[in-house]
Amino acid sequence: MSEHDKKRAAYAAKRNIYTVEHPVSPQDHWTRTGHKGGVLWLTGLSGSGKSTLGLGLENALHGLGYQAYVLDGDNVRAGLNNDLGFSPEHRSENIRRISEVAALFAQSGTLVVTAFISPYQSDRDMAREIIGEGFHEVFVHASLETCEERDPKGLYKRARAGEIPEFTGISAPYEAPQKPELLVDTGTLAIDDGVHFLLDYVEDSFTLHSSLIRAA
Ligand code: ADX
Repeated sequence: MSEHDKKRAAYAAKRNIYTVEHPVSPQDHWTRTGHKGGVLWLTGLSGSGKSTLGLGLENALHGLGYQAYVLDGDNVRAGLNNDLGFSPEHRSENIRRISEVAALFAQSGTLVVTAFISPYQSDRDMAREIIGEGFHEVFVHASLETCEERDPKGLYKRARAGEIPEFTGISAPYEAPQKPELLVDTGTLAIDDGVHFLLDYVEDSFTLHSSLIRAA
């Protein structure tokens, strides 16, 4: 049991809730899939390419035989977190809940790719604590100018017009990671190249069985 799991169990017991241990361990799942479970935590501005890269990676990993799944900000906010807005407190709660969900997925052996702006370093540190060893922070970097120029959802334009309050990069902060495990520069890299870069990282950090490694 990780430190965070112990804390969680102690907290629950005070409320007459008793967490259970799974008979199938994370390592048992790894043996079955040929790769470790864990979380690639993509963080970056809206329009930096988190979802595009994440979904491209999920698709490529699926084709190679991995168990991989994207948890995406907009999708999660449409359901599980549809009671949350964009104040610092709500963003923090958004990240807390998704970290707990991602931690469960990771324990099931899944390679989780999260795509959330997650603008605050303290929230990303919380995610690292909740998820534990398998957490990898990936900074999907493109300048604000580039993201604003792309503006795939037209949100920057509306935020500049004052129609969307607390918009990240315009009227709310984005704290760039100081020491991410990986930086993908989507300002210069094409999407396919970004996906290949991430695939290399996955093979180095998660892959146990050679059948999952791409031919050179
Ligand atoms: S986070 O800051 O809490 O991590 P999250 O990634 O879940 O954000 O959601 C971001 C998505 O919500 C954006 O891609 C955008 O489509 C939408 N959105 C709506 N309002 C805002 C806002 N004020 N700031 C940033 N994104 C917003």
